[in-house]
Amino acid sequence: MTQDEIKKSVGWAALQYVQTSTIVGVGTGSTANHFIDALGSVKHQIKGAVSSSKVSSMKLKKLGIPLVDLNAVDMLDLYVDGADEINPYMHMIKGGGAALTHEKIIAAVARKFVCIVDASKLVDMLGNFPLPVEVVPTARSLVARELVRLGSIPKYRQGIITENGNIILDAHNFKIVNPIELEAQINNIPGVVTVGLFARRGADIALIGSEHGIKIIQKKCVINT
Ligand code: A5P
Repeated sequence: MTQDEIKKSVGWAALQYVQTSTIVGVGTGSTANHFIDALGSVKHQIKGAVSSSKVSSMKLKKLGIPLVDLNAVDMLDLYVDGADEINPYMHMIKGGGAALTHEKIIAAVARKFVCIVDASKLVDMLGNFPLPVEVVPTARSLVARELVRLGSIPKYRQGIITENGNIILDAHNFKIVNPIELEAQINNIPGVVTVGLFARRGADIALIGSEHGIKIIQKKCVINT
């Protein structure tokens, strides 16, 4: 199986969490794209989708899935998205696709966050993948200095302006021993819009795909399917 076939398997497996007549939160990335395709197959059974990026919105539109503004809903039953890394406590690094701010907002409004990844994303300790931080452009140097002070090597992501008009610093070499604490520390730096650590609000369920099948993880509990 190729990596993309594995991503497809978890994208389609996430369909089992979609309830009829609901509005579904949809993430961004190659794995989320497979979930969007799957959602297209049940589009007449759902009310619509809240999208985390322009790219996902375009794909949803093409499939004829109605787009709903997040401000028009109090709560979502479900948010489905990929991740760049996830640990067994369901903390994640996200933002490889630069959509982290919208992703974090939608995750905060969702009752259930289902993370869909291939097994290469499952790690014991977060930090091998550079941690994305969305920053107001004028605060770039200040935030970079603070990220150094916290123990990382920040790099400016060249040529990327987020949908909110901000820049991304990718913090390399972090050994993230306490993700919840680090998320709060980075959030407290003036000029930080969003840090791509999803620890305080992590995933509720992770579907981890490999050529051997899909493992469903809920915190420390592993069920083989
Ligand atoms: C998007 O900003 C990210 O948070 C994605 O969820 C992440 O990069 C995973 O992408 P893939 O599914 O393409 O690996």
